[in-house]
Amino acid sequence: MRVLEARYAMPTYARAPVEFVRGEGARVWDSEGREYLDFFAGLSVHNLGHCNRRIVAAISEQAGRLGGTSNLYYSEPALRLCERLARSSLGGRVFLANTGTEATECAIKLARKRAHARGVDEPEIVSLEGAFHGRTLAALAATPKLAREDLFGPLPRGFVAVPRDDPAALRAAVGERTAAVLIEPIQGEAGIFPIAAEVLIAAREACDATGAALVFDEVQCGMGRTGTLWAYEQLPVRPDAITAAKALGGGLPVGAVVISPELGEGLALGDHGSTFAGGPVAAAAALTALELLDEPELLARVGESGERLCAGLSALDGVVEVRGRGLMLGVTLAEGMEAGEAAARALAAGLVINVPGERMLRFLPPLVIGEAEVDEALERLGEAMA
Ligand SMILES: Cc1ncc(COP(=O)(O)O)c(C=O)c1O
Repeated sequence: MRVLEARYAMPTYARAPVEFVRGEGARVWDSEGREYLDFFAGLSVHNLGHCNRRIVAAISEQAGRLGGTSNLYYSEPALRLCERLARSSLGGRVFLANTGTEATECAIKLARKRAHARGVDEPEIVSLEGAFHGRTLAALAATPKLAREDLFGPLPRGFVAVPRDDPAALRAAVGERTAAVLIEPIQGEAGIFPIAAEVLIAAREACDATGAALVFDEVQCGMGRTGTLWAYEQLPVRPDAITAAKALGGGLPVGAVVISPELGEGLALGDHGSTFAGGPVAAAAALTALELLDEPELLARVGESGERLCAGLSALDGVVEVRGRGLMLGVTLAEGMEAGEAAARALAAGLVINVPGERMLRFLPPLVIGEAEVDEALERLGEAMA
């Protein structure tokens, strides 16, 4: 694998020296037959665990019947998915995409179009420092840490960023020109940083005062990860639009923007589109994933498992802070400790976790884990960090 990568793949990823070849529930196996607990879940994609039977069946059934005929014809799985997404959240219209980044792009276009409709010539999107919204050019422009003008410029204009913990700065940045305030309610790539209620309230009030749209990026924190289907359900404000992806597709690439009825039709004929988006196989997988992830019993379990994992992590030597909600947890290690080394040792001990930053570990296990798996993961991590 290393030879193939070194010769043929653009070296955009830092890969751990392991190849996973099989998965079931919260466990994966590598090419040498070693078993691991997967507390990263493909970066919050496999919220239902690996190879969920119902999802595999939905995919096989649809793939064996009709793989797709384009968005120029009706397709029941896609339209049922729009219905289910709308009913489970903001109640308005839906645009289906393939990825989280595409959902961000669609939300930006939609917000800019609304701003133009009220006479704004140079609309602005306000985002928060530390946020991650994707890697295409507009999504990148809304992702301050990665928006490198020197490497990828000229980036699209019309993006401003404010500190993630400063409600006054946020209020000051939102004005007549603002098309949208784009917020990841729990910043995932940054290392799991929940945005404070005061910042969310400031964003809501500023949007209400100016006519800007409040957009929550629920690509990572949505789909049951925090113990409710959508993260905003536990927050003091309701957004005008949400973006979703990752676990939405049950393992296949599906993204979506859902808007509230107040945003009307959102986009119009010819404004946007995508060849693969809403394809019946991916939509069938997503419909099944949404149905399974919206189960009250499962969501309640997320809260319980999250508390158990949080308590266990807090008790580990070398852990100075645990942040997050439900099964979206981030840890800061004591000074002098190397998160990369801790994760490498954890991998060797049979636990897959992620390193979002210096001295930080990230835990995004499948939501179907039970007490025993939480305890086993803590044991393996304890061993690795000893
Ligand atoms: C919050 C958030 N938004 C957007 C994205 C981009 O999603 P994708 O990688 O599916 O394009 C990610 C990916 O990690 C994310 O975490």
